[in-house]
Amino acid sequence: MPTRLTESTTSTSRFLFPRWANYMVPALVLLAIGVLTYIPLVLALFLSPQTTDVRYRPQQPVPFSHELHAGQLKMDCRYCHSTVEQTPYAAIPSTKICMNCHASINSTSDKLQLVRDGYTTGQPISWIKVHDEPDFVFFNHAAHVNKGVGCVECHGRVDQMETVYQHESLSMAWCLNCHRNPSARLRPRSEITNMQWKASLTDREASELAEKLNDQYQIQDSVFMTSCTTCHR
Ligand code: HEC
Ligand code: HEC
Ligand code: HEC
Ligand code: HEC
Ligand code: HEC
Repeated sequence: MPTRLTESTTSTSRFLFPRWANYMVPALVLLAIGVLTYIPLVLALFLSPQTTDVRYRPQQPVPFSHELHAGQLKMDCRYCHSTVEQTPYAAIPSTKICMNCHASINSTSDKLQLVRDGYTTGQPISWIKVHDEPDFVFFNHAAHVNKGVGCVECHGRVDQMETVYQHESLSMAWCLNCHRNPSARLRPRSEITNMQWKASLTDREASELAEKLNDQYQIQDSVFMTSCTTCHR
């Protein structure tokens, strides 16, 4: 017993890791690599417009104001976003549409220089996309608008936005929240672009109308509305 004790104190003057500790080295390296890639990845996801999206308001190359054009001047959304009832996409207007007015209105304004240049060269303005669903999500404007879902339901009061921003999360939970019971969110097709339509109805009128529109548009049942392949195809 005493010999053993001396032996061990001399031969192990420093602490020795047990043999199994050798396996920890590759494990720690892997962990370190994992953490080093994971953190930037998570940060990138959180900071990307796709996930921070609510209130995402990029600075646009031309200071175009919806508050002025759609609000004060009361221009209908479809004057510019003309494909919204026919196609999955809401077209962004060409400079030609702007020049319908700006050939004579503010025709020397610096703020409109890029519009005039684009009109002459035929180069579209590089507007920065505000809303952007990932590619694996299927979305269709016409399918919504023609069944009485108004722009304001998904984009908020664009007519009050000086610079347009993302109003809703556009997350899967948000889509499903309406898809589970859309009838209360429907309106007559004539009011699709009317930003303040709802305010003029009492609760009772609103719920009667919801029922009526649900029948009139023959809204699909909730199995279809919530099935994965409806939005991921
Ligand atoms: C005079 C033309 C014009 C009118 C009218 C107009 N818009 Fe726009 N809209 C634009 C232009 C140009 C852009 C791209 C620049 C920007 O984002 O501000 C745009 C961008 C948008 C976007 C953001 C698109 C994206 O990048 O995700 C939404 C949403 C939108 N408009 C909704 C509306 C709604 C709703 C109305 C009606 C209340 C409307 N717009 C009326 C010209 C117009
Ligand atoms: C129906 C007519 C009309 C159309 C179409 C139109 N605008 Fe305008 N825009 C106006 C009016 C009116 C004003 C305000 C003029 C004023 O009071 O100085 C204005 C003002 C502006 C201003 C501010 C100019 C300044 O010097 O203060 C910008 C920028 C602008 N518009 C961009 C656009 C763009 C971009 C488009 C196309 C997507 C467009 N407009 C389409 C009528 C129009
Ligand atoms: C049911 C919700 C919903 C309604 C209703 C809706 N939008 Fe959108 N909008 C979206 C989503 C989601 C996107 C992003 C689509 C993408 O990235 O693929 C979008 C994108 C846009 C864009 C950018 C171009 C594009 O198509 O990606 C414009 C402009 C726009 N919407 C205008 C409108 C206008 C104008 C109306 C009403 C006439 C309207 N939207 C109604 C959800 C909606
Ligand atoms: C405010 C309510 C509302 C919101 C929010 C909404 N939807 Fe819809 N959606 C509807 C209604 C109403 C229909 C029409 C159902 C029908 O055709 O009977 C529809 C239909 C659809 C369809 C079927 C189109 C077809 O082929 O017939 C798809 C796909 C779809 N929505 C995707 C989405 C996605 C993706 C989102 C979220 C980004 C979303 N919707 C948000 C109400 C909504
Ligand atoms: C009404 C439309 C809709 C339906 C129905 C739907 N999804 Fe999604 N899903 C979305 C949208 C929109 C996103 C993108 C969310 C984002 O980018 O924030 C998404 C994202 C996802 C993702 C990526 C991870 C995430 O959460 O961002 C997965 C996985 C997914 N969906 C699976 C499913 C499955 C499984 C079903 C059926 C049970 C389903 N989805 C039904 C709209 C839908």
